[in-house]
Amino acid sequence: MRVVIIGQGYVGLTIAVGAASAGHIVIGFDVNKELVENLNLGKSHIEGISDTQLGEFLSVGRFSASANPSTLEGSDVIVIAVPTPLDLDRNPDLSFVHSAADLIKQEVKTSALIINESTSYPGTLRNEIAPRIRGVEHLFASSPERVDPGNIHWGTKNTPRLIGGLTPAAVAKAREFYGSFCDTIIEVSSPEVAEAAKIFENTFRQVNIALVNEFAQIADALGISGREVLDAAATKPYGFMEFKPGPGVGGHCIPVDPTYLAHVANEVGVPATFIKRANEVNLAMPAYVVKRVVAGAGGSIKGKKVVVVGVSYKSNVADTRETPAAAIIDLLREQGASVTWHDHLVGTWRGEASSPINAADIAVVVTKHDGVDVTAIQACGYVFDCTGSIAGVDGI
Ligand SMILES: NC(=O)c1ccc[n+]([C@@H]2O[C@H](COP(=O)([O-])OP(=O)(O)OC[C@H]3O[C@@H](n4cnc5c(N)ncnc54)[C@H](O)[C@@H]3O)[C@@H](O)[C@H]2O)c1
Repeated sequence: MRVVIIGQGYVGLTIAVGAASAGHIVIGFDVNKELVENLNLGKSHIEGISDTQLGEFLSVGRFSASANPSTLEGSDVIVIAVPTPLDLDRNPDLSFVHSAADLIKQEVKTSALIINESTSYPGTLRNEIAPRIRGVEHLFASSPERVDPGNIHWGTKNTPRLIGGLTPAAVAKAREFYGSFCDTIIEVSSPEVAEAAKIFENTFRQVNIALVNEFAQIADALGISGREVLDAAATKPYGFMEFKPGPGVGGHCIPVDPTYLAHVANEVGVPATFIKRANEVNLAMPAYVVKRVVAGAGGSIKGKKVVVVGVSYKSNVADTRETPAAAIIDLLREQGASVTWHDHLVGTWRGEASSPINAADIAVVVTKHDGVDVTAIQACGYVFDCTGSIAGVDGI
């Protein structure tokens, strides 16, 4: 099949490589010209896809990147994989999805299967995408992406794929497409079920992370180790699933997607109380971390040299979107500390460069990547670890 993927970020490039590996001719379309140039030079920008892998598909003509909208025409399959963030008022921002749909309407005059993989609330395919692409008899399906960047056990091939279509023909064609590179296809009765399943999965994580974050605070106040309690509870072989506390939630999914569900819940008059409360708890974690750091460092951090270790939102990825490290650094600075950060994967961020750990007065470990110098962290005067992976120091 000739496949065009709109958006070549974490999701789009991952799917592009999956589809190319199945023998399809894939064009990765993106509005970011620099990204397109780099992809065509065989430079991958995401973990899990190597330059070598990309180079191999480029050399045999199974993958190419383009910023030219005319490449959309003549495709069998068009996949939408663009951002679905929150706006400044924390409401769903579907502007990227809308512009992708408008682009298809403008450029594509022959029938294709149009799939939305971007995460959004139920009704997005039917009400926000399909009506904008009238005039050609396209097939429409929703297959929300579940990729977990950096996860070496679960990838595009072995993560079961949900499909919901506007018509049985759309479902059949989507099954044919995904069946060529995914092991397990699960058809659901409508696109709305597929869309809702994805945001419920992320809401489940958001709420449970908030629960353990709150519990970690209760346990600390009681003078017991929250992590030891959670590990002990996890020995129960049924009816319990272990989540780990941390400095908050980050990335493009867990802090964002539940609010999409809350938005539609609000529209149909059902209060999404768990989502609201979980957001409050998770967003308050940076302040809790800084409060503990100040207390642990003797009541004041004014003038102290603080290094924040790991600023991406999770280990072994360079993604800093929605990272709690941002609020932690800002709050530490508000307390008068002189703050640098260290993250060899991120390199530069918010106009600042990664600094060495260098025996600071205080180290706050937000994220711990493989290969980080733990001895250098332990050489700092006071260490607060949000990851639960450094023995013998304070932390969550
Ligand atoms: N990152 C994840 O872990 C993850 C996992 C599952 C689902 N998702 C969902 O997938 C979607 C995409 O997320 P992502 O992480 O890949 O985002 P991303 O920011 O990494 O990539 C999106 C890409 O789309 C491009 N783009 C924006 N508007 C465009 C347009 N009109 N035409 C062409 N390209 C356009 C951007 O330049 C960017 O390169 C979101 O809905 C997200 O919630 C993300």
